[in-house]
Amino acid sequence: MLMKKNIEKLLSPLIGILIAASTGSVCAAEPLPTIEENNGRYALMVDNAPYLILGAQTNNSANYPAALPDVWPVVEQMQANTLVIPVAWEQVEPEEGEFDFSFVDTLIDQAREKQVRLVLLWFATWKNNAPHYAPSWVKLDNQRFPRVKTEDGKTLNSLSPHYRSTLEADKKAFVQLMQHLEEVDEQRTVIMVQVQNEVGTYGSARDFSDRAEKIFRQPVPEELLSDVDKASGSWREVFGDDADEFFHAWHIGRYVDEIAEAGKAEYPLPMYVNVALRNPFNPGEPGQYSSGGGTDNVIHIWKSAAPHIDMISPDIYFRDHKTATRVMDLYARDDNPLYIAEIGNDQPYVRYFFDAIGHGALGFAPFGMDDTKYSNYPLGAETMDEKVIKPFADLYKVFGSMGSEWAEIALNNRTWGFSEPVDTYKQDGELWNAKGSDGGQKAEKDPEDYTQRQDLGDWTAEITYGRPAFWIEPPKGNDPASGGAVIAELGEDEYLVVGYHARVNFSPSEALEGEQYLFERVEEGHFEDGEWVFERVWNGDQTDWGLNFIYRPHVLKVKLATYKTD
Ligand code: DGJ
Repeated sequence: MLMKKNIEKLLSPLIGILIAASTGSVCAAEPLPTIEENNGRYALMVDNAPYLILGAQTNNSANYPAALPDVWPVVEQMQANTLVIPVAWEQVEPEEGEFDFSFVDTLIDQAREKQVRLVLLWFATWKNNAPHYAPSWVKLDNQRFPRVKTEDGKTLNSLSPHYRSTLEADKKAFVQLMQHLEEVDEQRTVIMVQVQNEVGTYGSARDFSDRAEKIFRQPVPEELLSDVDKASGSWREVFGDDADEFFHAWHIGRYVDEIAEAGKAEYPLPMYVNVALRNPFNPGEPGQYSSGGGTDNVIHIWKSAAPHIDMISPDIYFRDHKTATRVMDLYARDDNPLYIAEIGNDQPYVRYFFDAIGHGALGFAPFGMDDTKYSNYPLGAETMDEKVIKPFADLYKVFGSMGSEWAEIALNNRTWGFSEPVDTYKQDGELWNAKGSDGGQKAEKDPEDYTQRQDLGDWTAEITYGRPAFWIEPPKGNDPASGGAVIAELGEDEYLVVGYHARVNFSPSEALEGEQYLFERVEEGHFEDGEWVFERVWNGDQTDWGLNFIYRPHVLKVKLATYKTD
């Protein structure tokens, strides 16, 4: 399978040349990036091969040539294969109808030099709910581009989704951007586009302007009713207390979809939206979080409203394990590939890479990965330095060398990801356990807190954290919590395992209960051109106590077996 993909990949430029020669055209463009689905599992295809985004997202305002020299060194040190960076409406259309793509061109040239791919973030009608990145001719003209009004008549700094004038203006600029990419990017350096940034509105569940009220009183559109399986009626009748928020989500979704559709008509790259999340355990009211964005309670509304948006992607700034992993469970759906559009860049977040790719994520993009001397602490790290970069680099190094193979495995096989479940923090020189987002804490260490078990079918995997490599000593957690592991099923009794600061062990599940078992063979190796390259066999101390991943991740192919004693 891997072999076949690679042959296709090697042959595709050749086929392109042959077609060009036979048709007399001079087309040598690489195939377009696409998203491939296999029964609710997904892969991003780049150059016809599965691609794992090992991303680095810049801070905001890094979207000028002058900032780029402070961006690339971090991308390089991190060993990221993809830079995720804004392109702002205000910079491409500073005067209405006059377009300037010089930043995009500079960015693409430099990315090619560095052999890094790009994901562009279209900052326009919405950037964290506001039109900050819209040009002045938009954001200063509230008559032509009206803002959301609250129920008590206040005007918020969030553009209303109910005006064609705003939609047409944004769409026109976005179409120009996509046309420009189509013209300059036959190499497909840009692989994906985020349409808007954290859409929605803070401070109100929806727009309550006269125009919005009129639309709100109309019946719920048929296509939405049939997608969510509801009988017709007004928004209030159909959705009750959720009506205001669902109405806003639907209209923002339709607005964004129309822009994406028009952009794709010019140049059909994969497109997604990112989400300012609500806390899944303690959501609060719409408006306290960004109402109308693709929060977990309205993913179904967005799916109906925005068929040209390939995925709804979380921005994870919950530091604790319980919430961060819950978010991944909510956004990895059969109808929604998981892509971690943003995640904090501080140490605790690094280990969630394992959960993400265990969920089959298309990629992972820590935010603020540049040296522009800015920090979004306490969301992310306080400073940008080697300490922040190295843990990401440790993981990206390993997955960089097998990104395509991993992405293909994840498209076709069952995968599971784990990260150290106890969140620790230091107080008065002592390590404390923070219990999820519940805020509780305890100093006592229960080994079960540092143990995860996963039923894989015939086998159960056990992942433990913070125990010596030798001996059966109970796990007591790493200081700080940093461990993780990912397991992929390769075949019967055969798994690919990559771990970091963790021990992974296997035992028979119910079906094999009572059987004698062992590691038949544990190979350490790597992938080259889609093929597994054997390096050595792990045995003796390396397997007697389980598979200990200590200072750096290792890539292991594990064959388990049972044996008869009589
Ligand atoms: C999420 C947004 O999408 C980012 O652009 C940025 O504003 C971060 N929040 C905070 O640094």
